[in-house]
Amino acid sequence: MKKQVNDLLITDIRRLNHDNFLIELKSESPVGAIHPGQFVNVKAENTPSAFLRRPLSVHDINEDANTFSLLVKVVGEGTKKLSELKPGETLSVVYPLGNGFKMPSKGDRILLVGGGVGIAPMMHMARESVKNGAEVHILLGARSITDHILLDEFKQFGTIHITTDDGTLGTKGFVVNHAVLSANQSFDRIHCCGPEPMMKAVARKAREMNTECEVSLENMMACGFGVCLCCVTKTTEGNKCVCTEGPVFNINDLEWQI
Ligand SMILES: Cc1cc2nc3c(=O)[nH]c(=O)nc-3n(C[C@H](O)[C@H](O)[C@H](O)COP(=O)(O)OP(=O)(O)OC[C@H]3O[C@@H](n4cnc5c(N)ncnc54)[C@H](O)[C@@H]3O)c2cc1C
Ligand code: FES
Repeated sequence: MKKQVNDLLITDIRRLNHDNFLIELKSESPVGAIHPGQFVNVKAENTPSAFLRRPLSVHDINEDANTFSLLVKVVGEGTKKLSELKPGETLSVVYPLGNGFKMPSKGDRILLVGGGVGIAPMMHMARESVKNGAEVHILLGARSITDHILLDEFKQFGTIHITTDDGTLGTKGFVVNHAVLSANQSFDRIHCCGPEPMMKAVARKAREMNTECEVSLENMMACGFGVCLCCVTKTTEGNKCVCTEGPVFNINDLEWQI
């Protein structure tokens, strides 16, 4: 889909727990053309400390209603302002941005791994992978039971595996402690999004399992257009902008010490 900047209508806004909420936006272009793993850049209005746009993954799409949603965790001024928006108001959005995940073929067995708000792009990815005829497994990690959100929604698209750091739900520990990330499991590809230490740990596991692995990087961004160079990451082909050449990278292309 061609990039566009639009004031999109907020059709719904829903708090999910203490710090996460969903915003649903009515798109002016067919949402079916947004690729899983792509992101948007939104303007949190009236915030001198947040005058730069904020990057957020496309969480899910509804082709019938021509809407897409964003899953947001409140971490600072910009995301707090976004959480205070109301249905009927508009949000200035640049979309869709970035490359997105490699899609599975019919019969592929894939594992989606999301840690914290890194689960955001995985709903759209799961929905489209099922449409392609893939067998989808989804591994979701969070600190505690109250941090796990949208489990019923994820269950529609595949087999769910859960970890919590404190053991209050699912396997106790980090996502890499779950048995689904072990050498006796076989996947065609692993797709991962979350904090960088978690993605590096998943990348190590993927290497041990001899499985292709993609990660979605959440580097700090400013322009979102490949101009300011504040989002660069080192790759085997030199520095690349995460905003234009990512955010999704194959782990073999990154200069990561894993
Ligand atoms: C491609 C991409 C996709 C993203 N998708 C989502 C998403 O779907 N949902 C979501 O909630 N967040 C997502 N993020 C992170 C989100 O952009 C930041 O949390 C947001 O910009 C913070 O804005 P703020 O004004 O609330 O916080 P700020 O006041 O700017 O910062 C508050 C704190 O958050 C930290 N922070 C800010 N930006 C980032 C970042 N990019 N990564 C890690 N820490 C950061 C700051 O260091 C600071 O400690 C994504 C980031 C990228 C690059
Ligand atoms: S955010 Fe400016 S180059 Fe990527």
